[in-house]
Amino acid sequence: MTVLFADVVHSMDIAAAVGAERLREIMAELLDRSTAVVKRYGGTLSQFTGDGIMAVFGAPVAMEDHAVRACLAALGIQDETVRLAAEVKDRDGIDLRLRVGLNSGQVIAGEIGSGALGYTAIGEHVGMAQRMESVAPPGGVMLSASTARLVDGSAALGEPQMVRIKGADEPVRAHRLLGIGERHHTVGRAESTLVGRRREMSAVEGLLDRAIDGHGAVVGVVGSPGIGKSRLVREVAAMAAARSVDVFTAFCESHASDIPFRVVARLLRAATGVGDLDASAARRQVRARVPDAEPEDLLLFDDLLGIADPEVALPKIDPHARRRRLTALVNAASLARKTPAVYVVEDAHWIDEVSESMLADFLTVIPQTPSLVLVTYRREYDGALTRAHGQQTIALEPLIDPETAALVSELLGQDPSLGGLPDTIAARAAGNPFFAEEIVRELAERGVLRGQRGAYMSAAGVAEVSVPATLQATIAARIDRLDPKAKRTLGAAAVIGSRFGLDLLTSLGVEPAVADLVAAELIDQVRFTGRPEYGFHHPLIRAVAYESQLKSDRAEVHRRVAAAIESPDPAAADENAALIAEHLEAAGDLHAAYGWHMRAGVWALTRDVAAAWASWQRARQVADALPADDSDRLSIRIAPRAWLCASAFRVHVDISDSLFEELQELCTAAGDKPSLVDGMAGLIAEHLRHGRVREASRLASETMALVESIGKPDLTVGVSLATISTKFLVGEMAEALRWSQTLIELAPVKWNGIHGSPLAVALAYRGTARCALGRAGWRDDFDRALAMTRGGDPMSHTAVIAYAYGFATAGGVRLADDAALREIEAALQSAERSSEDYVLGRARFTLGVALAHRASPAERERGLAVLGQVREMCLEGRFYRFSLAAVDIYTALERARCGDRDSAISQMRAAIDDLFHSGHLWYGIPATAFLVETLLERGAAGDLAEAEAAITRLVAAPADDGLVIREIWLLRMRALLDRARGDETGYRDYRDRYRAMATDLGFEGHMAWAEAMP
Ligand SMILES: Nc1ncnc2c1ncn2[C@@H]1O[C@H](COP(=O)(O)OP(=O)(O)O)[C@@H](O)[C@H]1O
Ligand SMILES: [Mg+2]
Repeated sequence: MTVLFADVVHSMDIAAAVGAERLREIMAELLDRSTAVVKRYGGTLSQFTGDGIMAVFGAPVAMEDHAVRACLAALGIQDETVRLAAEVKDRDGIDLRLRVGLNSGQVIAGEIGSGALGYTAIGEHVGMAQRMESVAPPGGVMLSASTARLVDGSAALGEPQMVRIKGADEPVRAHRLLGIGERHHTVGRAESTLVGRRREMSAVEGLLDRAIDGHGAVVGVVGSPGIGKSRLVREVAAMAAARSVDVFTAFCESHASDIPFRVVARLLRAATGVGDLDASAARRQVRARVPDAEPEDLLLFDDLLGIADPEVALPKIDPHARRRRLTALVNAASLARKTPAVYVVEDAHWIDEVSESMLADFLTVIPQTPSLVLVTYRREYDGALTRAHGQQTIALEPLIDPETAALVSELLGQDPSLGGLPDTIAARAAGNPFFAEEIVRELAERGVLRGQRGAYMSAAGVAEVSVPATLQATIAARIDRLDPKAKRTLGAAAVIGSRFGLDLLTSLGVEPAVADLVAAELIDQVRFTGRPEYGFHHPLIRAVAYESQLKSDRAEVHRRVAAAIESPDPAAADENAALIAEHLEAAGDLHAAYGWHMRAGVWALTRDVAAAWASWQRARQVADALPADDSDRLSIRIAPRAWLCASAFRVHVDISDSLFEELQELCTAAGDKPSLVDGMAGLIAEHLRHGRVREASRLASETMALVESIGKPDLTVGVSLATISTKFLVGEMAEALRWSQTLIELAPVKWNGIHGSPLAVALAYRGTARCALGRAGWRDDFDRALAMTRGGDPMSHTAVIAYAYGFATAGGVRLADDAALREIEAALQSAERSSEDYVLGRARFTLGVALAHRASPAERERGLAVLGQVREMCLEGRFYRFSLAAVDIYTALERARCGDRDSAISQMRAAIDDLFHSGHLWYGIPATAFLVETLLERGAAGDLAEAEAAITRLVAAPADDGLVIREIWLLRMRALLDRARGDETGYRDYRDRYRAMATDLGFEGHMAWAEAMP
């Protein structure tokens, strides 16, 4: 056991200054806080001495790592004291400081009294702890030689000091405790001196200092395995620690590269300091860290960190919105951070895709923060984390010969018996320090080398010593020589992952033999608090330990790991589904793995579409790997593909090249029409995304024909919302009207929710079709649709808004009045908070178009800005490309209004070409009118002819008969043309017909414009 003694420095002086009463108060507070710390590390508070405390670790309950826990507690108590001292200083003007001493050994212990303070330990070791306390510097922690020995390798210690203590003649050895931590296991371990890397270190040092000054940076550290990436990062971490800068680390692991959110969650957990806390304490901590965040955003954040309260439902929002909000939350917190920090992402070549893209978003603000981000990866990685804005890269080359020689000589020593061995090793290691270390370890274990690290002698004639040819072979040779128990432990651990606990090993039926493995430096203890945890010394060791097992043995362990992950916490099974699936897949249980992959997809679908997509991809691969005679093979090959196709456009993936064809083939073979319909809907969205309006519309007709032949109402409802929208774009209004009518009749049936509330949207569709065809009832349709969706789910509401206000305003049907604008703004806000990119884009587009129709230049200016955002989304593939031309039309219109007609006209020409080329008629109508108007206003040579040609082109565009919406615009254009020609009679005739038609139809936009014509 280890005894901890803590005492307040100069307590008598403090009593004199503040009075006994106040001193008691301060001491009580200190006792409270210290008790909490002692408990956290599993210790027992055994005595309250009035101005100090005594605590015991490792008794009455035995614990192996009592010394480490006591050290952690000692530092924790000092931290608490510093915090309390600041308050005391403010209030009482005195310095409160504590000395702490630790000593380890056998203690005769017994119960005296009861309760928290009832446990007392006596013995000479207690006295030694007290003496260590007495020689500790104020604010410091002193360890006796026995404690220091126990924590060597996991703690950072000062140089040994000889101190004189009361009652002893001889001075005794004592060590100052400087630090200890979960990843500090290498601090103080016999790590060889850093050789070379001076240029790299000074480069990072410069960046670190700039970061501390508030100019952060992202640095990639790239190089092959074993070359020294992690070492460089450790050196930087030590540098940071020396400047009192916090370091937060997350490791990526080869077996977890398909587990979404894993790395980002780990890094954020570290950065928010919730690593060791239970979920509810963690949630409190997060709220203390980001006090201004919105409660809903915090729920999302909890979920991301894996500390969500199972009793509280997640906000119902789309994954895209979730992502926007989390990014905003994290980036705001980074920007608000005043104290410098270093963040490390290790082995990014194994990062999961979702973490990668989230981190990439977080990195964008780093230059404006006091943070240094280090990302290590192998050369083959070229993902987003290599391309942060202004990212610097440090490529680690092999050590040069003299550096390798220096390293080898430090490892081996200089004994003459070694002969030419150092040269052989250096040559074989080829500048890879890890290889050099492993060769030495291997030779020592083989018995070729005798003695200690740094002082070896050769036991055999070195001339015939063989050295394995590769780093992998060296590691394999070392593993091969382990005794069976250790080997089994290492093998099972490799199946579990890079880090593992003893409980899991035991539950797999493996008797953990970790001590040997730690001694052999194959693994390290990486967690000392709570349940100890171990990690592989290097990822390559895990890889070799994994590969070197028989496949069948490995499979069995994988199967057990899967069961072990699932069983203790069935509630968390969804969250762990991806991990369970990985293990089952590796175990060869394909059916089970398939099921878990699909389950992981469903879990992820509300969180991140890319994550869901990745799970379905895995499910698809597993399904394809099933034996040909498996009776379920066909149907389970179809299901993931149908999901993939249906959601592809949301992750900006194209399916037209192969995935859709695969689905089609399989569906044909199985006679599975509904799944094919899902795929077709996905393909329609893809066409639209790329601006292939005509293809989208054609496929929509095919899809509807198929859906009608199936005759399943829910399927019809589910898919027709997407198909109808294509008909508007190409001007096939009769079809749109017919289908929306069907939809309205069917809408009360259950629907899949992908496209929002069907009845309201169907009404908005019918309203649109009706007004385009000049049929009565459109206003009523719009009003009902708006009323049904107001305050409801933003996806449906935005769709309704887009038609009832956006489409209708652009067509001159309605005016963009104040009320309309308010409603659009509100819809945009809720889209921002809870909807996907496509919905957000639609809301922005609608607002942009409405603002473009306003009288006030300031509003129109804002409209341009909003449309600019839409444009950007189109270019990034986050919104339908066909909107690009429409956006350009309104931009050009505004330009013309500001007098820049020449460039406005060329921009309009290009946009109109685009519209007509892709078959996009709807915006082609007002676009033609704007061009005609602008040409006529300019009135240069040829403008009149061009205006006439533009009109002819619009007239000739294929569309349904009775397309009133086109006719009314044409009347206006013809009136303007006649007037420009000087044909007053013609002008007046068209103008009056235009006015009459506008009034007849009740198209307020046209009524106003017609009224304004002279
Ligand atoms: N420049 C160096 N000088 C001395 N030892 C080094 C150096 N670089 C790496 N090492 C040692 O080599 C081993 C492997 O390095 P590590 O940083 O883990 O490699 P990587 O992360 O690139 O795979 C570690 O034990 C490390 O301490
Ligand atoms: Mg590494």
